[in-house]
Amino acid sequence: MAEKAIILVTRKLPDNVEARLARDYRVRFNHQDKVYSDNELIELAAGADAIIPCHTERLHADVIAQLPDSIRAICSFSVGYDHIDLDAARSRKIVVTNTPDVLSSATAEIAMLLLLGAARRAHEGARLLRTDAWSDWSPTGQLGIEVTGKRLGIIGMGRVGQVMARCARGFDMEVHYYNRHRLTADLEQGAIYHANLHVLLPLCQFLSIHCPATPETHHLLNADRIALLPNDAVVVNTARGAVVDDDALIDALSSGKLFAAGLDVFNGEPNIDPRYRDLDNTFLLPHIGSATRETRDAMGFRALDNLDAIITGKEPQDRLV
Ligand code: DGY
Repeated sequence: MAEKAIILVTRKLPDNVEARLARDYRVRFNHQDKVYSDNELIELAAGADAIIPCHTERLHADVIAQLPDSIRAICSFSVGYDHIDLDAARSRKIVVTNTPDVLSSATAEIAMLLLLGAARRAHEGARLLRTDAWSDWSPTGQLGIEVTGKRLGIIGMGRVGQVMARCARGFDMEVHYYNRHRLTADLEQGAIYHANLHVLLPLCQFLSIHCPATPETHHLLNADRIALLPNDAVVVNTARGAVVDDDALIDALSSGKLFAAGLDVFNGEPNIDPRYRDLDNTFLLPHIGSATRETRDAMGFRALDNLDAIITGKEPQDRLV
């Protein structure tokens, strides 16, 4: 019988996923859930057939160049793949996969939570209670912005953006979107397409970002584009921090141009720009878009389906290169 393939798993994965891995492969687990340095990752990959990383591992060109020849696949436990240099992987004939679809609902839930929380100042209210500082009900206290019936702009109408649009329709929001391509009418579900951001942005009382981080979307939300938003707009980001220019967003939140921002992703995670913490009009979460039991199991199983296919010489369903 052929020896089982050796798999390097860079982070602690859900128990059900690790159980399937242990059943089918010889696995280098990371039960301490330590974030490996580049050198540790390269050393631990010696003799392995494949790596299952998360977005916390930066598989840049220089890391990929130093991976042992035994590595045939990188099956990421993530939908985002901005942490992997696809060209470098292609040049080394390493197959790369991600985990689309399975985290769309969980991520849209967090986007909606951020949108509601930022608009209704949920964290300020929660803080009043937790610090025992709630002195009285007031007709003019804690006034937020009503969500129902407002216009929502979505940047990136992929799977998560489409679920977000469905959630928003539950609040009678009018959904507008910008995407590389216009969706078909059955996927649009009445959402209004704009081919240009400068047409979309002035309409957005709420703006939710769902596009991937690429060289083209780097700092897409910059000072010029924020200036196009209506005053008192609310910005939500559950995609990647790199899509936002922190200086521009922080300026707009400090000056009162924007009412609030709800952010789950940041440049330089987990070392976020400390100015976000000092602002009362930010509702901040620690990159938990996909953090449900169901979704994290589903992400793991999707990564393993891809791995199984590659190891047995079949085509993985989520091949990126
Ligand atoms: C993803 O899957 O890309 C999420 O951001 C978690 O990594």
